[in-house]
Amino acid sequence: MFYIIVTHLIRGEMEMSKLVRFGVSLEEDLLAKFDRLIRQKKYTNRSEAIRDLIRNELVKKEWTENKEVTGAITLVYDHHTRELVTKVLDIQHDYHACILSTQHIHLDHHNCFEIIVTQGKSKEIEELYQKLKSLRSVKHAGFMMATKGKDLA
Ligand code: NI
Repeated sequence: MFYIIVTHLIRGEMEMSKLVRFGVSLEEDLLAKFDRLIRQKKYTNRSEAIRDLIRNELVKKEWTENKEVTGAITLVYDHHTRELVTKVLDIQHDYHACILSTQHIHLDHHNCFEIIVTQGKSKEIEELYQKLKSLRSVKHAGFMMATKGKDLA
């Protein structure tokens, strides 16, 4: 089977991206599964779904190559836990150069939710995440990789 899809050519930052078409051959069953998946994910067409897959892979590559990236770390913890708030703050001060902002939300009497927006070398951000995540009594830690967007169409 032969299908035509459309994607962007990724070029230099200042240059406008031009649309190009290319063909992809794949098994009918695999395409049926892909179509089901993109319907569930509310994509309106295959091209947009494929663009997203490509962009996600390029962002992952930026992270594995220790590029300048952005991201977000989330934490849920009980602020009554002895010394935990101090430790969370100490670690954030150690990594202040790669923290853009921190938002603290008091979920209830005990629990806090913190969103730490980061920017810097991916290895440093991952290190910050690991240090916060491994603190005893942190109930949940989440991590979202993002990109500064400069190299993506
Ligand atoms: Ni709080």
